[in-house]
Amino acid sequence: LSCGVVIVAAGRGERAGSHAEGPKQYRRIGGRPVISHTLDLFVNWQPARRIVVVIHKDDEALFETARAAALPAGDRLTVVHGGATRQQSVLAGLEALADEDITHVLIQDAVRPFVEPAMLERTLAAFHNGARAVLPAVAVADTLKRADANGNVAETVSRSGLFAAQTPQSFHFAAILEAHRRASVSGHDDFTDDAAIAEWAGVRVHLVEGSAGNVKLTLQKDIAMADQRLSHGLP
Ligand code: C5P
Repeated sequence: LSCGVVIVAAGRGERAGSHAEGPKQYRRIGGRPVISHTLDLFVNWQPARRIVVVIHKDDEALFETARAAALPAGDRLTVVHGGATRQQSVLAGLEALADEDITHVLIQDAVRPFVEPAMLERTLAAFHNGARAVLPAVAVADTLKRADANGNVAETVSRSGLFAAQTPQSFHFAAILEAHRRASVSGHDDFTDDAAIAEWAGVRVHLVEGSAGNVKLTLQKDIAMADQRLSHGLP
């Protein structure tokens, strides 16, 4: 296996509200930018041959500051500019790996700084068992309700067999590059994760156990909780 990593960080983070430190991937948790924590995990992960970080063109200076706060990645790290949607940003990252000698790629949201190495090992094990697409996910624990237009419960939805998808989502490189390119030229631009693109392209996606701690920082409160967790050693 020869693994590439794409970390997407070109979003504007509007749901977290605006902040002097910039979009949420540059907010400080535990004293340094969110993305510097995410980067460290993959810089430390031996199988990562190349790491591509996809940033917004206006965030060059923010990213340089974050990179300086992370472990040195040397010439393993490439930075490219993203697009208007997450899907476009991922494709830009994949294209940057197209001429490299990569067999598999892990696609990671910059705003998930708590990936556990054990999850990455489960992903590698799935690849060794022949999987071409691997999705870390956790079984849904809450009881689910569908609401009607008046804010009342319309029905209770069975949670049996339902999982919440996390990242990194990982793929046979040529398969996901082809699927992404095909989605892009056929005008499918509303996929919210890469597993959905693999599914659309007919690639079977294998589930592995995610982790409850591998949260996505979306809202201001998520950033505050992540900061508490790192600053005070909370679980
Ligand atoms: O917006 P959302 O929370 O789904 O973003 C998930 C990840 O995708 C974030 O790390 C964000 O920076 C990235 N993204 C991107 N390019 C976009 C939109 C989101 O790289 N146009």
